Amino acid sequence: MEMHDYDIVILGSGIAGLTAAIHASKSIGEKKRIAVISKLHLMRSHSIAAEGGISGVLYPGKHDDSYELHGYDTAKGSDYLADQDAIETLVKNAPKEIRFFEHLGVPWTRESNGSILPRAFGGMSVKRTAFAEDKTGFFMMRALYDTLLSLDNVDRFHEHFITSMLVRDNRFAGLFGIDLATGNTKLFTAKSCIIATGGHSRIYGFTTTSHSSTGDGTALAYKAGLPLKDMEFVQFHPTALVPSGILITEAARGEGGYLKNAKGERFMKRYAKSVMELAPRDIVSRAITTEIANGRGVTQEGVDTKCVYLDLRHLGGDVLDERLPMIKDITIKTLGLDPAEEQIPVRPAAHFTMGGIHTNLDGNVVSYNLKDLVGGLYAIGECGCVNVHGANRLGSNSLSECAVWGRIAGIAASKYIKLGHKARSQSEIRKFAESAEEELNEIADSEGSIDPYTIREQLHSIMEEHVHIFRNKKGLNEARKKMQRVKRMYKDVYVSDKGKIFNTNLRDALEIGNLVELADVTIRCAIGRKESRGAHTRADHRKRDDKHWLKHTIAKNVKGNIEISYLPVTITKWQPKPREY
Ligand code: FUM
Repeated sequence: MEMHDYDIVILGSGIAGLTAAIHASKSIGEKKRIAVISKLHLMRSHSIAAEGGISGVLYPGKHDDSYELHGYDTAKGSDYLADQDAIETLVKNAPKEIRFFEHLGVPWTRESNGSILPRAFGGMSVKRTAFAEDKTGFFMMRALYDTLLSLDNVDRFHEHFITSMLVRDNRFAGLFGIDLATGNTKLFTAKSCIIATGGHSRIYGFTTTSHSSTGDGTALAYKAGLPLKDMEFVQFHPTALVPSGILITEAARGEGGYLKNAKGERFMKRYAKSVMELAPRDIVSRAITTEIANGRGVTQEGVDTKCVYLDLRHLGGDVLDERLPMIKDITIKTLGLDPAEEQIPVRPAAHFTMGGIHTNLDGNVVSYNLKDLVGGLYAIGECGCVNVHGANRLGSNSLSECAVWGRIAGIAASKYIKLGHKARSQSEIRKFAESAEEELNEIADSEGSIDPYTIREQLHSIMEEHVHIFRNKKGLNEARKKMQRVKRMYKDVYVSDKGKIFNTNLRDALEIGNLVELADVTIRCAIGRKESRGAHTRADHRKRDDKHWLKHTIAKNVKGNIEISYLPVTITKWQPKPREY
């Protein structure tokens, strides 16, 4: 086993992780060392697929915009479940971060006078989303990665899969994993760790997210006994391309696109008549599902699921070429369909997990006792739950979250290590590494009988059938029962590839294990919440119920069982009201 010792390790290399690395590198000093570890090549993390843009009030007063209004939109969009101190942090800092990326070289689309041009997004009262065509994530990642390459105190570990995390006495101590290229195991010890591994939408089969969105960091924290928050809230993006699930950015509607049913009606008039296609995603996704359920879905030859149409034909060639060139490219390349001439078939797909690792306002992970903080451990971006999105995230608020908390956690981690800490006992570290290796070998060498892909298929069918946009008690209980069976199957998982070099079969089995764990927590939390709020729609409890349910769900792993408790929501400025659009 190879040993590496760092001051800070950053697990995950998307926009949150790389932003944290850059700020930590600057504030920590040249002699201290940072490692960025990713299961992918660092540049291939899912952030690269972000399309539509990043929210922030760049010119307060202009376009009738203000921080206050951005905050209000976010609180209302969250169905009042977001912590409003987190919202205030987001809206105040997002503009600075957009400018930070401008200085790193992101080519924001601009007005003719040179100022950054905002575009419309769902649930935002005014245009406040900065963008770079429809490849915002790609440009931000490229700028971050180029900057990272120039930092002498940061080492990069591509394609390393972390399987265990050591947290003892409420302090982070180390990570254990495999170097996928060689199959060798490695131990990373550090004083501080920032988890930035993204979401876990791959608990579903039909999703806009890449195959890597398997919630590995969230599962590591959960297995280490740390609390997860609001896991019942999963966002379904209304417009995933059918049949592939590739994201068709909300910016297509922001630029003026229409949603139409099989009768050619702009059906959003029935669900959000003042904002139509620019309602928040939970509302649009429910609307599409309802249209399809009521027989107004579109049938496509050779495709077994119904869909609706996204109509961009009236936007004109210039808008498509200048603002949505990748969307045009995707539909032409995958379906042979030119959106200037034909409508695009779309339906909702899992896109974002609002829930994640329970943190305080600095992104510092909260301990199992729900009072103390875990020394040196941070969780940011989609895997963290600071909780700025509540029950439903507004489109383009996630890139701001990654940028804002990337900086906050990067600086907080370097302050933490400057405090100086007692060294860990070597025997404790050795014991951890040995037991982590044993656990890994148990899966790698197992002579079980069940293929991991069979388990994944069953996981997806449970989640798609019972834990989707509309849920109810009967379906959720059925899902829980079936998921217990899937968990038992996983104990008998068989990794047929016994090789060491790039053993993707082993990696897949490990990822599927993480997904099964997180899906089980999601179902348990969804059973608990007996109301409809944001993305969690209970057909058997149709109304939001602030009296009983204006609270966060906490899920902890206590000796293999899920223990549920609840915490209050922080309300500062925006009192919960009926949510109308
Ligand atoms: O539709 C989109 O471009 C997605 C944006 C987001 O999830 O923030």
